[in-house]
Amino acid sequence: MLFERIIEGKSMLNTDAKDRLPEKCSRRKSECDGCGEHSNILEEMMKMVLLGLVLWAGVTFGSLVAPYPLNLFVNTDIIHPPPMYDFPFPNPQMLKRLPHITVQHTNKSISISKLSVSMLERLEENLNMAGIKPQSGSPAQGLSIYGLPSSVAMKYEKSSMIITKASQNLVWTKCIRYGLETDECASYISTLNLRESEYGPECAQLERFTCPKNKMSLKYRMFDGSCNNPVRSSWGQALTGYKRLLHPRYADGIEQPRRAMNHKDLPSARLVSLVLGDNRDVPDEKKTIILPLWSQFIFHDLVHTPMRKAIYTNQPIRCCDNSGSNLSPRYLHPSCMPISVPSEDPVYGKKFVTCMDYTRSVTTFRGDCTFGAAEQVS
Ligand SMILES: *[C@@H]1O[C@H](CO)[C@@H](O)[C@H](O)[C@H]1NC(C)=O
Repeated sequence: MLFERIIEGKSMLNTDAKDRLPEKCSRRKSECDGCGEHSNILEEMMKMVLLGLVLWAGVTFGSLVAPYPLNLFVNTDIIHPPPMYDFPFPNPQMLKRLPHITVQHTNKSISISKLSVSMLERLEENLNMAGIKPQSGSPAQGLSIYGLPSSVAMKYEKSSMIITKASQNLVWTKCIRYGLETDECASYISTLNLRESEYGPECAQLERFTCPKNKMSLKYRMFDGSCNNPVRSSWGQALTGYKRLLHPRYADGIEQPRRAMNHKDLPSARLVSLVLGDNRDVPDEKKTIILPLWSQFIFHDLVHTPMRKAIYTNQPIRCCDNSGSNLSPRYLHPSCMPISVPSEDPVYGKKFVTCMDYTRSVTTFRGDCTFGAAEQVS
């Protein structure tokens, strides 16, 4: 009613009240002119007070309860990642079934996860003693040099690994068992803030800072990309994650490599590469030199994505043995994701190589400082 009036450009005062409420007035006609109008003004005022209350509550508490795409609008923080377009989210009936997750719960998940990460120490010591590391001059060593993470990257790697494992724990204990789909669970968990956890300050320092005036007045932007965007000061900054346009599809919603629709492993990356890119010399009439230059730019950007190292011993990780076969499982670091080589491989087939080294990328805090799916350092 109120909105209708605003849209129609009418006054808030009920000017046509007389026409609609003649029978409600028990007084004589001469006294009646103002009374319907009066009660209607009160009614409209009540509505406005209510509307004000709802707006105030929305702005004050909205960011705490709203799902991720919505809290972009109600959040008073100005630093956040761009929205994703296919955000899976549980429907309202499902949401009602889920237990309320408190800071005690998230703190507990973090301590469980710290324990599990600390167990890596023993394994990494063993790998070190057994000399499981890239041979000098091998492609594995080249890879580890290309993707060498800085010591700050390794600090964020350890923190984000703990948060990632805590997120897996939350997905399992607070979500999957209530019948939710994996991706919906992961996005539900990604509404939980790190703010009150041990890692809140560290994430805020990386992702949520206000650009100082002296940085903003420089002729050129900062070398590390900070304050490139004056409002969203961490966008494009070193050590922050790649930004996503689509929601990630990890097998467990959090960090396990994506699987095929039938839940099997996806085909080997080497096989896909061989099928898609045959190495023939076929000159193209239309494309110009800008194509290889641009491809090179993209390639370098991706290949310099930092690769994980052992977090306690700081050694490069090895995922295949020196003869090109899979390592024995007891020597396999959890950050390994070796690529299997098909036996008909034109290069490696003859050499009986069945395993290509590949280690997972360094992860970092999520742009909105929440629990949830792993993000790779860009
Ligand atoms: C959660 O952990 C943080 C950091 O260790 C601590 O400051 C906070 O009091 C804890 N909160 C609760 C409710 O246990």
